[in-house]
Amino acid sequence: MIQWDSSLSVNVAEIDLQHQRLVKMINELNDAMRVGKSREILGKIVGGLIGYVGVHFATEEKYFAQFAFPEAGQHVQEHRAFSAKVDDFATRFKSGELGISIDVMNFLSDWLGKHIKGTDKSYSACFNANGLK
Ligand SMILES: [Fe+2]
Repeated sequence: MIQWDSSLSVNVAEIDLQHQRLVKMINELNDAMRVGKSREILGKIVGGLIGYVGVHFATEEKYFAQFAFPEAGQHVQEHRAFSAKVDDFATRFKSGELGISIDVMNFLSDWLGKHIKGTDKSYSACFNANGLK
C-alpha cells in the first residue's frame, strides 16, 4: 500500500498532515480487508474515509479560491471525478454488489499517490507565495 514519505510533501504543513491521515485511513481499510473484518466494520472505515476526503478536498479548494489559483478548474474536476467514483464504490458496497477488493484498494492508493505527486504539487508555489507553508 501507499506510504507517506517526503516525496509526497506539498510543502504546506496543514495539507501534508491531511494527506498523512488519508494514507493512514487507506492503509487501515486495506488491513481490515486483509484480515477479513466484517462488512459492518469495513463500511464504517469506508464512511470515515469518504467523510475525510470531503474535508480534505474542501480545504484545498478553499485555498484555491482564496489565492485565485489559476489551475483550480482542472484540479477541482479531478476531485469531483474521484468523489463520484468513491461514492459509486460505497453505494455498490452497501448494496452487497461489491466487496472491498485488492482492485479497489489499488485504485484508492494509486489515485492518491498520483494525485498528490502530479496535481497537488502544482499548487505548492502558489500557496507558499501566499504565505501558506
Ligand atoms: Fe488535490
